[in-house]
Amino acid sequence: MPHPKRKILVTSALPYANGAIHIGHLVEYIQTDIWVRYQRLCGHEVVYVCGDDAHGTPIMLRARKEGLSPEDFIGRMNSEHQRDFARFDIAFDSYYSTHSPENQTLCLRIYETLRAQGHIVTRDVEQFFDPTEQIFLPDRFIRGTCPNCKAPDQYGDSCEICGKHYQPIDLIKPRSAVSGATPIRKTSRHFFLRLEHFRRQLQDLLQSRFVDESVANKLREWFATELKDWDISRDAPFFGFAIPQETDKYFYNWLDAPIGYLASLAHYLKAPAEEAIEFWQNENVEIHHFIGKDIVYFHALFWPAMLLGAGLRPPTRLSVHGHLTVNAEKMSKSRGTFISAVQYARYLDPQWLRYYFATRLSAAPSDLDLSFEDFTARVNSELVGKLANLISRSAPMLNRLLNGETGVPVEDALPLLEQIRQAKPEIAQAFEDRNFAAATRQICSLADKANKFVEDNAPWVLVKTDAQAARGVLTAALEAGRILTIYLKAIVPQFARSVEQCLNIEPLEWRHIEDSMTAHKINAFAHLVSRVDDKAVQSLIQENMMPDPSTANPSSPIPSATAAAASASPAPSAAASGTFEPLAPICTIEQFAAVDLRVARVISAEDLPGSDKLLKLQLDAGEIGRRVVLAGIKKAVVPDQLPGRLVIFCANLAPRKMKLGTSEGMVLASGPGGAEVFLLSVDSRATPGQRVH
Ligand code: 2FM
Ligand code: ZN
Repeated sequence: MPHPKRKILVTSALPYANGAIHIGHLVEYIQTDIWVRYQRLCGHEVVYVCGDDAHGTPIMLRARKEGLSPEDFIGRMNSEHQRDFARFDIAFDSYYSTHSPENQTLCLRIYETLRAQGHIVTRDVEQFFDPTEQIFLPDRFIRGTCPNCKAPDQYGDSCEICGKHYQPIDLIKPRSAVSGATPIRKTSRHFFLRLEHFRRQLQDLLQSRFVDESVANKLREWFATELKDWDISRDAPFFGFAIPQETDKYFYNWLDAPIGYLASLAHYLKAPAEEAIEFWQNENVEIHHFIGKDIVYFHALFWPAMLLGAGLRPPTRLSVHGHLTVNAEKMSKSRGTFISAVQYARYLDPQWLRYYFATRLSAAPSDLDLSFEDFTARVNSELVGKLANLISRSAPMLNRLLNGETGVPVEDALPLLEQIRQAKPEIAQAFEDRNFAAATRQICSLADKANKFVEDNAPWVLVKTDAQAARGVLTAALEAGRILTIYLKAIVPQFARSVEQCLNIEPLEWRHIEDSMTAHKINAFAHLVSRVDDKAVQSLIQENMMPDPSTANPSSPIPSATAAAASASPAPSAAASGTFEPLAPICTIEQFAAVDLRVARVISAEDLPGSDKLLKLQLDAGEIGRRVVLAGIKKAVVPDQLPGRLVIFCANLAPRKMKLGTSEGMVLASGPGGAEVFLLSVDSRATPGQRVH
């Protein structure tokens, strides 16, 4: 039954116009873009808007430093940001700027209504002022000694050493980070939005599925005390919109930033600001904001309060994600992990990052880690080894052996195809819930089954005796690949385009899941997606590394983790330190750490008649799915005794094709070989899928 068509307005947070887009930003844009693409694949109408957050003191100072007018500076940043997003397939319908006439009109309209309704008050505020630069200093532009732990050189609002939050005027020996001058205290009149006026409405909003329950619980804590008035003005000099009927007063950039969503919508509609408001006010339109957890306060309190006070609808939903860490630490210039979008794309394929982030993203606002070892292993074993593999084996085979013509899937494949199609609602729900990790897990496990089907039916052998049957096996494989590509398309749209080209089919949509590839001529095969080369990852990190003069050895070409380990141990003579002559090439700690060891339960163990060493094991590795492993343990074990037993296996070994099939991992055992091979035993409380450290 056709589902009702939804109309959805989607936004990602507007990035500041004072720096390049980096991989930390990309988490959000990739997450939003996947969600948007998924909705479009389902036939829903989506408008996805964004733009630069172009106002504020940091941008004004940055432009000044570069010798540019703020307008020229933000113009350049805007083009760079658009270029970077396009490179990662982030498909906005409008990428605009808060420094736009539409935004000014909307800001004034909202502000005037808030004032007329009595939601704005003014009062004097004492702030730090830089006497050299003649500017009021934002907290982040004041440095000094922490009043709590006395750590030197801390920001004006909080201490990075002891974590204490304070007022800038409490800092010991404050100084301006702009000029170095000692700031003076100066009083000026500021404008405030009375948040308390909206208490009830904001609390009701939290009851309305506005945010996930875990986020809502946190937000409810804000209402335990009075909601403080929000300061919405800044003094000149400032790059922003002037407050009407005032001299030298500007709107704080956080007031006009979310209004920028509406301005970008007006830009998309190619219509005056009023029409954007009309669009926004349409009750049939869902409004979804995707944001990071650091700006929930702005989006769950200030922004809805502004909207409600101006007589406008609050958004339907806030989707909140966590922050990115790289190799389990904050992105860092000295470790080479503060990576811009441009630098990433110089070495690595943007599709890989889209895929990898998808595997790590769930609805929870918890931080996600980009471990480069895991990135390489997953992209290679899943995207390339399972998903692309299905088509890149079967399509050339069909072309080479059977004239590139599909037939009807063999009967044996029907349960498999049925199972792949039946996964549709579950995968759809995972996409809808932003649980892309669950979606990719499910897709990979189906790909495993499809690959196994090809392997078990060996069409390259079958073709010699029964061409039609071989055609039926390959047809089923391509059918499975086609459906899995639909499931993956929102995540890796370029991969999907290559598959569509190769299979000679129309752009895939969700409704095509039920279609079939029967009696169809495919195209000549063209490469779908490459494997990650670890050398490229290392080059990226090295290029990015800003040497820390106290520790770095500039002549050393090794990544920082290795450099740190090396510098931690002095280099005594081999004899004194007990170093050894390796029998095999040295395995670095990084390579060793990349080995993903998991607990698995043996489901079945089959004799492989063609081999005197190998047994074919089916393993259940819990969350990471099932694997077939060909293990050289035949002489040491009785196959019947293996099912049910827990073993340790290497889950990220590249699949290896052998004469008797493909092995998707390696079971760990010890002993000299032959009959004396002992499977490593596992504590019986272990659960399949659990990592072994
Ligand atoms: O935190 C930030 O990067 C802000 N520039 C986000 C603004 S989102 C919206 F309100 F415009
Ligand atoms: Zn401190």
